[in-house]
Amino acid sequence: MREQDKPIPEEKGEHVGSFSRTDDSIEIPFDEKTVPKQEPVQGRGGFHFQRTLASFSLEGKTAVVTGGARGLGLVMAQALVVSGADVALVDLNKEEAEKQAKELVKVFKDENPGADRVPKVTGHFCDVSDEHSVESVLSDVISQHGKIDNLVTSAGFTENFDAIKYPIDRVRKLWGVNVDGTYLFATGVARHLMERKAPGSIVFIGSMSGAIVNVPQPQAPYNASKAAVRHLGRSLAVEWAHANIRVNVIEPGYMLTALTEKILNENPELGNKWTSLIPQGKMGRPVDLMGPVVFLCSDASNYVTGADLRVDGGYTCT
Ligand SMILES: NC(=O)c1ccc[n+]([C@@H]2O[C@H](COP(=O)([O-])OP(=O)(O)OC[C@H]3O[C@@H](n4cnc5c(N)ncnc54)[C@H](O)[C@@H]3O)[C@@H](O)[C@H]2O)c1
Repeated sequence: MREQDKPIPEEKGEHVGSFSRTDDSIEIPFDEKTVPKQEPVQGRGGFHFQRTLASFSLEGKTAVVTGGARGLGLVMAQALVVSGADVALVDLNKEEAEKQAKELVKVFKDENPGADRVPKVTGHFCDVSDEHSVESVLSDVISQHGKIDNLVTSAGFTENFDAIKYPIDRVRKLWGVNVDGTYLFATGVARHLMERKAPGSIVFIGSMSGAIVNVPQPQAPYNASKAAVRHLGRSLAVEWAHANIRVNVIEPGYMLTALTEKILNENPELGNKWTSLIPQGKMGRPVDLMGPVVFLCSDASNYVTGADLRVDGGYTCT
């Protein structure tokens, strides 16, 4: 038989499942009750004498971080505090947001003995998918902090279902948090900035899933939500450029949080597959987002707007 006439392995039914495809047997619903407890934040900063650009400093800025009580949001909030910003942690879990706010201040004081100014960090309740809740928390933050200059939208979640079986109420909930929540906070903060005629920088936490389709776990609505976040960021960047409000998107790849660690412990095959697709050969650590978020919030990125910054170990390059 001539070489070109031989059936390709796929046609013979070989290697099924080993291709870059989703696997409809993987189902991982998101259940808030099973999320592991987040370790208290650890020291990350402290006073140092290494030279760096002053434009990276966030002294004098006030930032709101949604989903700030845990995971990536909490670590990014710490990066902002270490860089001198006052921060409001906004989350469904008010108790945890308040606890972590105190912890961030404590760590800052321990690392900066004798600091002439200690950042103010507060914790607040909000359901980001509810417009009344967003409106109310923004006025609470403004009354406690006086103003808002930066927004980081990290509230969001993912879950895995074959699209054919994905319950529509769960899809709506996911889009409500990931997309509506981002939109409501962005417009609320932009309105405040425009009223003050002040410049500002907004950072959306999207995902590389807004640009590629993950395998093998099926997650079409999540991927679509992050594609929406990405294009929302670009659209608002253009719409608000006249007001000196920048909007950028950070797109993390696979990051090792307490939650992903739990998923990987329960589904070890996923970790091997994921890592095999990452050029750097390892998952990211939440601290890998500290530099990117500070850069995008600060004046160091003054001419950067509408950008999506992938922090994915090279995943989306291949
Ligand atoms: N962990 C990853 O590997 C990864 C990768 C790419 C993108 N992301 C994105 O990063 C963001 C944060 O993810 P994470 O891994 O830190 O998740 P996480 O579950 O550890 O933290 C999310 C936080 O958001 C809060 N939250 C959820 N729904 C909310 C709502 N309706 N209103 C207010 N707060 C709400 C939760 O209480 C929690 O504190 C998400 O948008 C996620 O899609 C995560």
